[in-house]
Amino acid sequence: MSSLPAVSEALVKFQNKVLIPYWPYAAVPAAVVGTLKLIEWLAPGPGHNDRLNLQDKTVLISGASSGLGRALAFEFYKRGAKVIVVARSLDKLAQLCADLEATKSECGNPHEPVYRYIDLSELGDEAAAQRQVDDLVSLAIDGKTIDVLVNNAGMSMRGSCTDTSMKVQRQVMECNYFGHVLLTKMLLDHIPDNGAILVTSSLQGKVALPYRSAYSASKHALQAFFDSLRCEDRPNLQILTVSAGYINTGFGSRALNADGHPTGIEDPNQKQGYSAEDAAYRIVNRLVRRDTEYVMASFTHRLAIALRYFTPNLLFWMLHKRGQSDTHGKKQS
Ligand SMILES: NC(=O)c1ccc[n+]([C@@H]2O[C@H](COP(=O)([O-])OP(=O)(O)OC[C@H]3O[C@@H](n4cnc5c(N)ncnc54)[C@H](OP(=O)(O)O)[C@@H]3O)[C@@H](O)[C@H]2O)c1
Repeated sequence: MSSLPAVSEALVKFQNKVLIPYWPYAAVPAAVVGTLKLIEWLAPGPGHNDRLNLQDKTVLISGASSGLGRALAFEFYKRGAKVIVVARSLDKLAQLCADLEATKSECGNPHEPVYRYIDLSELGDEAAAQRQVDDLVSLAIDGKTIDVLVNNAGMSMRGSCTDTSMKVQRQVMECNYFGHVLLTKMLLDHIPDNGAILVTSSLQGKVALPYRSAYSASKHALQAFFDSLRCEDRPNLQILTVSAGYINTGFGSRALNADGHPTGIEDPNQKQGYSAEDAAYRIVNRLVRRDTEYVMASFTHRLAIALRYFTPNLLFWMLHKRGQSDTHGKKQS
């Protein structure tokens, strides 16, 4: 009991020495963040749409033959959607559909998963792409509506800006940018206002890394295209761009070197990244709750985005230092 006055004296001291002089340092940033969140919440747009119910919806996923796209197919199928999966590896797509069918009774999903060949770098002109798109749309539950378009297919590269051939620069842009632009353009009228477009971008869509120029450029372009689209004549259509950090899918080993050959070298950072299943679960949850931006990355990676805006020269110097130990800086034979 005799310690009570001592405790209350300590509390008064704490209040006078810590709380009163320093509370503005905590309260002001909290108020700023709170106000920004409130403005975001009040702003018109797809955030006010009803939650996305995936039951009996048609979802078209590009790049579904492996990695994140495959995991997304399971996530959408589990939630009752009909999935149409596309990529170039027909054997892997056929296996994916068989694996999805094997979970049919567990999921209670009555819809048959279907697959088609698509090479995003070789869609051809708009007339040729239209024929492929018509075929894809005919596979939808009602033969005309694609409720969710998932622009996920992608490829990467490694090599310096000077060594990387123009062929590689163009190949990456064709797949990661022009392919998605064309597919989206052709499908837009089939996506209803309460539907959605999901875009798998990357942290490199916000911060360019050394020795990954074409990849970083393609993801910057992708984000810019979808930012333009969301501000045009359908501002209530949900477009979720995911700026993903590392995902453990072996993506780096399939990246092209400066001459256009797969590096075959696993990226150690990716090996420590999210599992494809965890990433898919997080992304679909964000889609369902009608988010439009998702930076799926650790605190330090998110900090890099802030540095890009507030202290760009510091970030460029740090990335230069990081790049010096990157073996891809040397031309591969
Ligand atoms: N892994 C990471 O650390 C990471 C981080 C951030 C963002 N991402 C993004 O996540 C997405 C999925 O990558 P992932 O990690 O899952 O790698 P992945 O396993 O290599 O998946 C890439 C998918 O894209 C398809 N694809 C590649 N080129 C194509 C083309 N020309 N036409 C059609 N499909 C093509 C591939 O299938 P086929 O070869 O069968 O065509 C494959 O299904 C990509 O957009 C990538 O940029 C990945």
